[in-house]
Amino acid sequence: MPDTYKPGVLEGRYLVIALIWAVLCCISAYWNITTEKEKTLQLAQKEALTILDKDQALRFWATDHEGFYVPVTEETPPNTYLSHIPERDIVTPSGKQLTLMNPAYMLRQVMNHYSNLYSANCNITSLKALNPINTPDEWEVKALHTFNNGNNEYAEVQQIEGQQFLRFMRVMYTQPGCLKCHAHQGYNLGDVRGGLSVSVSLAPYREMEKRSIQKLQISHTFFLFSGFGVIFFIYHRSRKRIFEQVDAAKNLREESEKIKLFAYSVAHDLKNPVIAIHGLTKLLKRQYKDTLNDKGLNYCDKITQSAAEIENFVEQINVYISAKEHPLVIEELDFLQLCQTVRNEYTSQLQTRNIHWSNPSQVSIIRADRIALLRIIRNFIDNALKYGGESLSRIEITYQETDDFHTICVLNDGNAIPPDDCQKLFAHFKRSPTDTTVEGAGLGLAIISELVQLHNGETWGWSDGRIGASFYFTISKKL
Ligand code: HEC
Repeated sequence: MPDTYKPGVLEGRYLVIALIWAVLCCISAYWNITTEKEKTLQLAQKEALTILDKDQALRFWATDHEGFYVPVTEETPPNTYLSHIPERDIVTPSGKQLTLMNPAYMLRQVMNHYSNLYSANCNITSLKALNPINTPDEWEVKALHTFNNGNNEYAEVQQIEGQQFLRFMRVMYTQPGCLKCHAHQGYNLGDVRGGLSVSVSLAPYREMEKRSIQKLQISHTFFLFSGFGVIFFIYHRSRKRIFEQVDAAKNLREESEKIKLFAYSVAHDLKNPVIAIHGLTKLLKRQYKDTLNDKGLNYCDKITQSAAEIENFVEQINVYISAKEHPLVIEELDFLQLCQTVRNEYTSQLQTRNIHWSNPSQVSIIRADRIALLRIIRNFIDNALKYGGESLSRIEITYQETDDFHTICVLNDGNAIPPDDCQKLFAHFKRSPTDTTVEGAGLGLAIISELVQLHNGETWGWSDGRIGASFYFTISKKL
């Protein structure tokens, strides 16, 4: 949960999202428009192909008949380029003059005379033109050259008199029927004789394209701004939620601050009277030793003992609070030496109860807070001694390490703790559930938890339910 609102972070994130959305819209628009433009050319090419197919069909028809005879008129004089053909001109029995018409001548006439019906500009041409009319223009020369390199078709958009045209040309090979009139030029079967070219105006297609692009622009602008709207809406909601979370975190902090102050004052206010009770009871026992009977003296002991427990508890509360408050001082520690220090503190108790203590055999240098680490081990030992009971004969500290953590285990063979309860032990203020008689504060484990967390580690307990328990904690190596 974020506990502060960092201005600009959320805005930045949503700005990036908006930017990505804008880029996606642009890519989509660009892709669609490009596709639309390609479609224009594809449509124009299709029209060009249809025209050429029709044109070629007519030519083939004429070729199949090796040309055909038509009456000689002013508009259809005998073709001088056919003068080498015998019987170019014939006379019908009734005296009508007929002349041979070749396919190219026929189509040129069709186009010249019927251009209003036949709008496309169709041309037949060759690099070796018989008729100068058929001499290729610059573009056609280029296209014809590509046919010599094995191409069958050639297309390009050209600007003619300020208007865009798709120019398309298809190769014409020399076929058996063509040889009658073209063999004398040196053509053989399969040679490239020339090409059939057509120019299709792109204007009507561009008009259609313009309308489609306009629609695309409108729809993409709509998507772009709708997307912005949705992104803004989500941004607004997240911002509101963050503010709520920040408020909640602040309230929580204030609450916990209040509780801490309360705990401090309770601990503080309790301490002096308890010390007084402790002292006074001792004094009472010493000075009125003779007046008090055994029962009275026993009561005095009980009061002293309870006062000591309260003192200890108050002390633990202070430690717990200060564990939360004070920053760690991380330094390199000799863990074995630390274990030995704690062991020395407990020497007399270990001896009288005949408890065997063993330290880990080998430990690498641990980087941690010295006081905290001492307190953790001390608390584990305290607990083992307090709750271990009569059967406690061994306390062992072991060490293991992984790439990221030091893992330390404090195990004892005292009273068994039910396995299920082992993990719960680390909840704040929880005491060993099997033992309600022995003195001590469940705060000990809470303090351990707190200190281990400050070292980015974890705590857990394990027990087989028969003998004692093992308590583990880890310390991060990245402190
Ligand atoms: C009946 C005779 C005849 C036949 C058959 C014929 N052509 Fe031609 N062709 C001509 C004549 C004559 C010209 C030139 C004069 C003109 O344009 O009318 C010509 C022109 C052409 C041209 C234009 C370039 C130029 O040389 O002027 C091409 C290309 C062409 N013919 C290809 C063919 C092909 C390919 C065939 C066979 C499928 C064919 N012709 C069949 C007589 C013929």
